[in-house]
Amino acid sequence: MRSLTVEGPASLRGRIRVPGDKSISHRALLLAALAEGNSTIRGLSRGEDVLHTSAAVASLGALVNHRTDEVTEVTGGLLREATQVIDVGNSGTGIRLLAGMVAALPFLTVLEGDSSLAGRPMGRVVRPLRQMGARIDGREDGEFPPLVVRGGGLHGIEYELPVPSAQVKGAILLAGLGADGPTVVHEPLPTRAHTEEMLARCGVEVSCDDLSVRLVPGPVSPFEMEVPGDPSQGAFWIVAACITPGSDVIVENLYTGPARVGYLDVLTRMGADLEIDRDSGDVRARSSDLRGTVVEPAEIPGLVDEIPALAVAAAVASGETRFAGVGELRVKESDRLEAIRTELGALGARVEAGGESLVVQGGRLRPASVRSHGDHRIAMAAVVAGLAADGVSVIEGWDCVATSYPGFEQDLEELR
Ligand code: S3P
Repeated sequence: MRSLTVEGPASLRGRIRVPGDKSISHRALLLAALAEGNSTIRGLSRGEDVLHTSAAVASLGALVNHRTDEVTEVTGGLLREATQVIDVGNSGTGIRLLAGMVAALPFLTVLEGDSSLAGRPMGRVVRPLRQMGARIDGREDGEFPPLVVRGGGLHGIEYELPVPSAQVKGAILLAGLGADGPTVVHEPLPTRAHTEEMLARCGVEVSCDDLSVRLVPGPVSPFEMEVPGDPSQGAFWIVAACITPGSDVIVENLYTGPARVGYLDVLTRMGADLEIDRDSGDVRARSSDLRGTVVEPAEIPGLVDEIPALAVAAAVASGETRFAGVGELRVKESDRLEAIRTELGALGARVEAGGESLVVQGGRLRPASVRSHGDHRIAMAAVVAGLAADGVSVIEGWDCVATSYPGFEQDLEELR
């Protein structure tokens, strides 16, 4: 297992382009595989999670050509049963969206992942897909992977999501593409809209209001697209610039659509010096004096992946920051509430994590040796904390960062 050493305090300066958005990249591959014809995707994330989805659609019969570092070509439309188990690695998005997609395909698919994924809840996708008519099995009656999906013969449903989850919404909509009538999903809070945005781009009839999406089954057209930068990766540089003295960073071309950049509102409330251009997606962040805030449950789906980075910002802000309604963080790539409590605690922050809430008292960070918990976002948040601490910090279990941001170290070098 690799570790990464970081020395602080360090200032970050310059312009940076982060990898293509991971959520959009997964969906682009799945829809390109379903579409009859050739699609071209520029700027696809090349993290391991997305490469697993790319291999998955290839084993279902799509032709995928990562022609250059920038350009991926997919010929889709002729999908057939995979002869082997499909391994999605560490990716919760990969397995849940694929489960939805293959639920509509008239053959057997077996989906499995790594040991972390084996403990993540799948009942949330299995239940609605069974209601649509898919036959699905898995460990503990489909609660945990591997999942065995016998697809085809689906009916459209109207479904109320019990938890706000874009992965579950996406899985149901992808399954709905092959159903015998419309599918409607209602969500308790708005979640990222990438599935519906991508479906509309592919010519599928989808209509959305605030908390509902309705899809009419129909063919998926091939497409050309450029994947914008991943705001979840940009968050690490933006927080790092805010909390280290003398920093001035521009993160370029981020996706700024619905339910993805709530962290920019929270940082602004905390007093961050940000310039946000919502058209270009460029965000400039400079060293700032941050103060604590309260992040309400209704805000959480719009910043769910940025809480590790925001917790680091909170750890150096003045006063207390309270995140309410964050129970979902316990079932991410790690138990993120526990990981934040122990690792940010080792770095000198006072953190309480109980039930549905996370409370961070602002103060000073000190260097430490910390663990990634096998979770890319915990590892990258620890680097940000290490940049603000005075001395040398070590992040053990650094390898997991390759799941989403293989070029992170190089980008860090460029900004230092
Ligand atoms: C994602 C949705 C979120 C997020 C994940 C990506 C997606 O998960 O945490 O990293 O691409 O739909 P949930 O749907 O479980 O909230």
